[in-house]
Amino acid sequence: MDVSLMRIVMIGSGYVGLVSGACFADFGHDVVCVDKDEGKIAALHAGRMPIYEPGLDQLVAANVAAGRLTFTTDLAASVAGAEAIFIAVGTPARRGDGHADLSYVFGATHEIAAALSGPTVIVTKSTVPVGTGDEVERIIREARPELDVAVVSNPEFLREGAAIADFKRPDRVVIGTDDARARGVMQEVYRPLYLNENPILFTGRRTSELIKYAANAFLATKITFINEIADLCEVVGADVKDVSRGIGLDNRIGRKFLHAGPGYGGSCFPKDTLALLKTADDYESPIHIVDAVVKVNEARKRKMGRKVLHALGAQGDGSDARGKTVALLGLTFKPNTDDMRDAPSIAIAQALADAGVTVRAHDPEGTKQAKTMMPDLTYCADPYEAVQGADAVVIVTEWDAFRALDLHRLKSAMATPVMVDLRNVYRREAVEAAGFSYTAVGR
Ligand code: UGA
Repeated sequence: MDVSLMRIVMIGSGYVGLVSGACFADFGHDVVCVDKDEGKIAALHAGRMPIYEPGLDQLVAANVAAGRLTFTTDLAASVAGAEAIFIAVGTPARRGDGHADLSYVFGATHEIAAALSGPTVIVTKSTVPVGTGDEVERIIREARPELDVAVVSNPEFLREGAAIADFKRPDRVVIGTDDARARGVMQEVYRPLYLNENPILFTGRRTSELIKYAANAFLATKITFINEIADLCEVVGADVKDVSRGIGLDNRIGRKFLHAGPGYGGSCFPKDTLALLKTADDYESPIHIVDAVVKVNEARKRKMGRKVLHALGAQGDGSDARGKTVALLGLTFKPNTDDMRDAPSIAIAQALADAGVTVRAHDPEGTKQAKTMMPDLTYCADPYEAVQGADAVVIVTEWDAFRALDLHRLKSAMATPVMVDLRNVYRREAVEAAGFSYTAVGR
């Protein structure tokens, strides 16, 4: 069957909007990405990406050149005649109470309502709490009772750093709507995936909204579970990598998201777990397990700071590490992104600074963001510069560039050869053979 091409508007040209917009354009659709930020739109016109995501610049350039992808600040002009309007604006945690801040979503909804000229489908792609679609629909109906507008939930499951592949080869696409016309439109929007037999799950709108939070909370739980097992491994003399493999080979458990580390961070898990707890609270249906996950993960990030202090030989509160120097390799919450939001490195650097330790750092892409959050660190151009005179080197984020470091070169630059490998990248024997003392996670 031929793909019938759609006119799609993507409101919000941040991470989700830009990746989704570029991928929809690559499917052949006609896509307009809208953003209020004139600087961002000007940069996109000039071919500069506002975020770091592997492959995105080429994908954008190819689709702009093909005339399928355009950028504008003019929301009103773009939505006229669009068959599907995606809302992909931010839903940050609201200061103070942890609820998702929906002011951008509702702001966009009001603007869309004012600009609509005919029937359309409005799709929430932003991560929004259960019931948000109902409110979006209410706003539209109130403003434009004469129009046939359906509101659909279509959460995204993109991982930063692998977003294009995740979009084009998803494990599933979830579409929440009871409206037959909207279902047909969404089928056309995702038709290229359909043809590849990627599973598309149609469900109710509230269910779809909840699937997003349940998925992220489950993944955060899996990580937190293996992190606590890692701690137990350390005291009983077991190896968490083998435990992960040993349990993960059971298909009912699965191998992914069982890498022990310094705790999860990023723009999604911390915010979405909190927002899910708020929803659960609002409906008086507590989710105790997620509550525990959030607390354990928060505590873990600080605990990693103490782990580094102990590797330096400090006792108790770590204050006898005063005056030492530590090199942090990797600051972003995970590799292949420049995103520093809720990165474990922040709590680790803070714990070290509190103990009077000087922190030097290197990150391949995150330095610009990191500098705004942690102005007091010494930033270095590469790992070997970062370890100059250091008493310990800590692998905080598993960038590929840190997987095969020249250990002899590292050692000769350091004051004392101590490695703390918070991502279990290295083999103990190899690091010890190079003359280091080695501390890993759960091994
Ligand atoms: C996550 C989900 O994986 C996506 O499916 C979802 O769409 C996205 O949130 C979102 O809601 O927008 P992302 O935050 O980009 O994606 O990153 P992940 O790769 O999931 O990693 C999250 C954190 O967990 C990182 O700090 C990572 O280091 C940590 N992690 C992950 C572990 O510590 N161990 C693991 O085994 C896996």
